[in-house]
Amino acid sequence: MISTSMQKSLNEQINKELYSAYLYLSMSAWFDNNNLPGFAKWMHMQAEEEYEHAMKFFGHIADRGGKVELKAIAGPQVDWKSNLEVVEQVLEHEQFVTASINSLYDQALSEKDYPAQVMLQWFIDEQVEEEKNASELVHLVSVLGKNETGLVMLDQRLAQRESD
Ligand code: FEO
Repeated sequence: MISTSMQKSLNEQINKELYSAYLYLSMSAWFDNNNLPGFAKWMHMQAEEEYEHAMKFFGHIADRGGKVELKAIAGPQVDWKSNLEVVEQVLEHEQFVTASINSLYDQALSEKDYPAQVMLQWFIDEQVEEEKNASELVHLVSVLGKNETGLVMLDQRLAQRESD
């Protein structure tokens, strides 16, 4: 049986993951409007991954006889000044999620909640990957600057992203 405090924290994490999906969908729409379909696809797939993350927490609470409590999802930003601003925000957001996962792990350690520790280890690995991908994107977009040809090539590369 899951503790009330861990149930509350994991429910909050479901909300953060669903908000992440909303944010990345909003970014996907923005890139689509800015004629970068590859970036739009990358963000769309990122949003789908975030939904899957939320469902892992959902399943964990339910499997342990807990109560899933869904809260309202905040509306994400809808406009950005530049491609670089968007990808920098992705990295910043992933760093925020990493901090949140780390704090859940701290809680699982202090509560001696072994099943949550095992489940969260997957997320600890995943956040390494998430931050690595976002950092790479920030690097590529910042070195390209206003180089339109390079941007189109990067867009084509991002369009090749497949589901994990
Ligand atoms: Fe669910 Fe991108 O972390």
